[in-house]
Amino acid sequence: MIDPFGRRISYLRVSVTDRCDLRCTYCMAEDMTFLPKAQVLSLEELERLCGAFIDLGVQRIRLTGGEPLVRRDVMRLIGALGARLGPEGLRELTLTTNGTQLTKHAEGLYAAGVRRINVSLDSLDPARFRALTRWGDINKTLDGIFAAKAAGLAVKINAVAMKGVNEDEFDRLLIWCGEHGFDLTLIETMPMGEISEDRTDQYLPLSLVRNRLRAHWTLLDTDYATGGPARYMVVKETGQRLGFITPMTHNFCESCNRVRLTCTGTLYMCLGQDDAADLRTVLRQPGLGDAGLRDAIREAITRKPKGHDFVIDRRHSRPAVARHMSLTGG
Ligand code: GTP
Ligand code: 5AD
Ligand code: SF4
Repeated sequence: MIDPFGRRISYLRVSVTDRCDLRCTYCMAEDMTFLPKAQVLSLEELERLCGAFIDLGVQRIRLTGGEPLVRRDVMRLIGALGARLGPEGLRELTLTTNGTQLTKHAEGLYAAGVRRINVSLDSLDPARFRALTRWGDINKTLDGIFAAKAAGLAVKINAVAMKGVNEDEFDRLLIWCGEHGFDLTLIETMPMGEISEDRTDQYLPLSLVRNRLRAHWTLLDTDYATGGPARYMVVKETGQRLGFITPMTHNFCESCNRVRLTCTGTLYMCLGQDDAADLRTVLRQPGLGDAGLRDAIREAITRKPKGHDFVIDRRHSRPAVARHMSLTGG
C-alpha cells in the first residue's frame, strides 16, 4: 500500500482497548469516560481486520491501548496474530504497555512470538510515579519489566519528557537502563485530549535535553532504526541506545509508514489528524467478504494526510486533537 505522498504503509498500530488501569496525567483526565463495550470490536473481528492489513502488505503490528494487557483474553488475539508470523507476511508483532500485567503475561508473549516490547516508565521515584499515574505502584511495573527480561523479551523504556516533572531524572534513567540492558526513548509531549495539566508549562524540547545529557554522556550516532519515529544514539558509557521522539521540534511525518486502528474499528491515517475510516461498518456488512474489506482499507490509505499539525502554544488553549492518545494508542 502506497499513500498519495509515496510512503509505503507497512506498519499497523492497533489500540485493543481504550481502557487502562492507570491514569497518567499527560495521557488521561482523572474522570475518563470509556467507550461502552457494545462499540468495541470482538477479538475475532480485530483478528480479521489485522489479517486484511497483513494481506495488503503490513509487516509489523504493534498492539497498544489504553493498556493492551487489561483487555480480557487479549492473549487469544496475540496468539492468533503470532501464528501469522513468518518470513512472508507479518514479520514482527510487538506491544506497548505500562507493564503492570507483565508478570502474568511475559512468558505467554514470548511463546506467541513477541520478541520486544516498549514499557512506559516516566519516573523511577515511587512517589513521583504514583503522582504521575495518579495511583500506580511502581513495584508492579518494575516486577513486570523484570519478568519480561527474564522471559527473553528485549525491553525499551519510554519516558515522556516533562519540564518540572521528571527532567531531573534522565541521568538516573540512563544509568538504570544501562545496568539492566534496556534501551530508553524520550518523548516530547503531544497535545492530544483534555488533561488537567497545562501542556505548555510541561513541554520540554528534546534538543535541550540532548544538549544537557551531552555534558555527562558520550552520545554516538548510529544507523539503528526501527522504522518508527525515534532517532537513536548509542550511549558510549552504557552501550545502550537512547532514542528521541520529537514530533514537536523535528517532524518525522515525511517518512511515516503507519496507520492506526482503534478498538471500535476506526482507522486513523494520522495520529495528529481527525480524518478516519469506519471499518467496523464495512466489517459487519452482511455478505461483504475480505476483498471488500481490503478495498475499504485501500481507499482509506488514499486519504492519508501529509502530517500532523500539533502546536503547543499558549494561544491554542485547546489540544490539537480532541481524542485522547489512549484511543489511538500513540
Ligand atoms: P517502534 O515500533 O519500535 O518504532 O516503537 P515506537 O517507539 O514508535 O512505539 P511506542 O509505541 O513505544 O511509541 C512511543 C511514542 O511514539 C508514543 O508517544 C507514540 O505516540 C509516538 N509515536 C509512535 N508513532 C508515531 C507517529 O507516527 N507519529 C507521532 N507523532 N508519534 C508517534
Ligand atoms: N504525548 C506523548 N506521549 C504520550 N504517551 C501517552 N500520551 C502521550 C502524549 N500526550 C506515550 C505513553 C506511551 C506511549 C504509547 O505514548 O507514555 O509510552
Ligand atoms: Fe495508561 Fe499508558 Fe495512558 Fe498511562 S500513558 S494512562 S499507562 S494508556
